[in-house]
Amino acid sequence: MALDRFVNSLETMLEEARASLQSVNSADALEQLRVKFVGAKNGALKSVQKMLAEVAPEDRPAAGKRFNEVREALQAALDGAAERFASGGAAKSAQPTIDPTLPGLRPRVGAIHPITQTLEHLKEIMGRLGFSVTEGPEIEDEWHNFVALNIPDDHPARDPLDNFYLATAKSADPSCNSAPAARLMRSQTSTVQIRVMESQPLPLRIISLGRVYRPDAPDATHFPMFHQMEGLWVDRNVTMTQLKSVLRLFATSYLGGDVNVRFRPSFFPFTEPSVEVDYWWNGQWIEFGGAGMVDPNVFASVNIDPEKWSGFAFGLGVERLCMRRFGITDIRDLYRSDVRFLRQFAS
Ligand code: PHE
Repeated sequence: MALDRFVNSLETMLEEARASLQSVNSADALEQLRVKFVGAKNGALKSVQKMLAEVAPEDRPAAGKRFNEVREALQAALDGAAERFASGGAAKSAQPTIDPTLPGLRPRVGAIHPITQTLEHLKEIMGRLGFSVTEGPEIEDEWHNFVALNIPDDHPARDPLDNFYLATAKSADPSCNSAPAARLMRSQTSTVQIRVMESQPLPLRIISLGRVYRPDAPDATHFPMFHQMEGLWVDRNVTMTQLKSVLRLFATSYLGGDVNVRFRPSFFPFTEPSVEVDYWWNGQWIEFGGAGMVDPNVFASVNIDPEKWSGFAFGLGVERLCMRRFGITDIRDLYRSDVRFLRQFAS
């Protein structure tokens, strides 16, 4: 065998060994490579050594010298790989460990939106006063939003410019000539008064919390969507005194401290008499909504005898309550979805 062929075999083997050792990533794999290359029985080095006998006698000293060099280099490569394991090099990073001295990563958990928190809080307080929770749809017909609430056709509250009417699709049936019933996003939760009186037996004591929609230009105190808490108590001999007590107990509980309530004479088509509800809080009177005794016309529209039954209703602005309690000064902050703002209300 020619010397250069022998030397080639030697070097090819060394190259292969070095390449394999570079990517080895476990002690087991390293041991396998050790056996493969320098194993006493069938190791690659052993088979090359056997070829040494076939090298021409005059080339043998040079071949033997080269063989010894490659054997040492191979051993050095194996030792190097073994050391990498011991000191944690590439092999170690393949199995990451935890460094307990590093600062932790705090997982970002969501927070309950301040309005949702407020809605839950209001339900809890009113629940303690004996009011159960009902819900009504946000898309309403004119009967529930206006007609049954004693708001006549020509009333300014029904102006299309003051409401979000829906573009209702025409009936697909060509024989149906009647105009489709107008629908709108409800402008007040008073709609639920009607729905409850239509469907539930008397006496009843309910609240309903939800969204209402009005085309107001947004500013610090207006937003085209906001929430109201509607209350309705119908029983025999319900009076204005009870209305005031309930509203005062509620405010004392929600805002804290001994909150005073002031009724200012007002007008709503569905209550008679009607009042604006102000709370004395932190040194000033703040308006929170409207209230009054259910108008006999409203009772008539849902077939309740106003001679036998009486009731009060109120509607309070949920955002106002929430903003007062949390010290929020701009209603738009509630609906910007800015997590830096919202995170402050994480409980
Ligand atoms: N629905 C009225 C409003 O949106 C509030 C109200 C509710 C007034 C119930 C009286 C009784 O302004």
